[in-house]
Amino acid sequence: MYYSDVPEAYQSGTSTPDSISSTSDDGIATPATAKSVLFDEFLETFRESGPDFILVIGGLGYIGSHTVWELLKAGKNVVIVDNCCNSYVEVFEKLKYLHSNHLTSDSNKSTLAFHQVDYRDDERMSNILSLYHKTHGIDNSTGSRISGVIHFAAYKAVAESFQKPLQYYKNNVSGVIQLCSKLADLGIKNVVFSSSATVYGELADNGGRLYEQQCNSSGAVGLTNPYGRTKWMCEAILSDLAFSDPTWNIVALRYFNPIGCDESGVLGEDPRGAANNLMPIVVRTMMGDLPELQIFGTDWDTRDGTAIRDFIHVSDLAMGHLAALESMKNIGSGYHVFNLGTGTGYSVDEIVNTMRSVSKRDIPTAATQRRDGDVGMCIADPTKSATVLGWQVERSLSHACHDICRYLRLDIA
Ligand code: NAD
Ligand code: WQD
Repeated sequence: MYYSDVPEAYQSGTSTPDSISSTSDDGIATPATAKSVLFDEFLETFRESGPDFILVIGGLGYIGSHTVWELLKAGKNVVIVDNCCNSYVEVFEKLKYLHSNHLTSDSNKSTLAFHQVDYRDDERMSNILSLYHKTHGIDNSTGSRISGVIHFAAYKAVAESFQKPLQYYKNNVSGVIQLCSKLADLGIKNVVFSSSATVYGELADNGGRLYEQQCNSSGAVGLTNPYGRTKWMCEAILSDLAFSDPTWNIVALRYFNPIGCDESGVLGEDPRGAANNLMPIVVRTMMGDLPELQIFGTDWDTRDGTAIRDFIHVSDLAMGHLAALESMKNIGSGYHVFNLGTGTGYSVDEIVNTMRSVSKRDIPTAATQRRDGDVGMCIADPTKSATVLGWQVERSLSHACHDICRYLRLDIA
């Protein structure tokens, strides 16, 4: 549903950078503040009802913010941890706006909290997690009120990962080790991890849809970049952890190519740095911020010569996380991997043409050479997710393009 009452402040556009910002010791821009925002009524509800929370690390980013909104709609209480190195505090304001104005009566009892902190900051994370310890509530039971963790926080720019590999391994891999150690100490053992189709590496080029068993923790074939290696390493570490202690429930979700945004027109994709993925570049070209879209390779072995990907609407992807959390009740403990993709591929040309047709705007393109490390085709086999998680996509490519245009406030029919 499109919300026509969205205040100006919560409409689209690149957010204003925070006034306080600095460069982290990673050399990657990070706001300098570390603060918490709790709703006034939050602590009251917290004490009264003793609810469970889902901890969403990286919850202000593109996929994280959409997942938080779906969790709130489903009546879940959410705690976000994000240092805003690739997002803006304004996204939290947008989530608060949606939470206050657009929840149905069934779900409007959920609570939302945000802690602006680097998830690798041991002391601050301990302080935050202690807030959710059960002894803070009225009952005297022990343990944590955090019933599940969704871990989105990572650096994700493939090209940058070649230039700054140590920062990538530090944030994406060391961070996960540190996080899991802390969670283990507190007995929080339900974790959903953001993995990526990138772990299939060159297997993608074999043609055919990719299924989970083709890449498991026992080996990886032809990973094409350091970022991809960080995701594969995290999967291996999480798999080893679950094997060592069967009380862990760990689900790794391999995302294919997320696009689109929430139908409300409030949330979108708004990274701090330059856009790297196809759709944000298509959008910037369409809006006149870039002169043309460079098409990397028109000589792939595909129906029109441009590369084919499995583009999935970000709201469908977000729903996959709810299904993963739900599945922990019945799939048994251990380590489980699922593809989140549609099973259908679209080419780069098809994406551009669909966006042209939905927006009725010109998108200038220029064919250029293949990008280093690219594969020609990458499509999910979503059978396991459908069968085990009971999850499947509901939104089309055209739906995603419409939602983006709505976010951009374009006048479309
Ligand atoms: P994003 O950059 O928009 O979101 C990541 C969020 O994590 C940001 O808000 C960022 O500020 C935060 N973050 C990063 N490091 C942090 C740290 N040390 N402490 C606290 N917060 C930190 O990225 P996204 O597109 O939403 O991706 C989310 C996850 O999904 C990532 O793990 C990414 O690798 C994975 N993934 C993304 C895609 C994609 O195409 N977008 C595809 C496959 C997998
Ligand atoms: C899609 C297609 C490009 C930009 C990457 C990561 C993967 C995952 C998703 C995080 C390719 C072509 C792109 C442009 C173009 N992320 N393209 N002109 O490469 O499938 O996957 O993002 O995990 O790990 O590798 O996505 O959106 O970058 O590219 O022609 O200006 O669009 O060559 O064929 P990709 P993408």
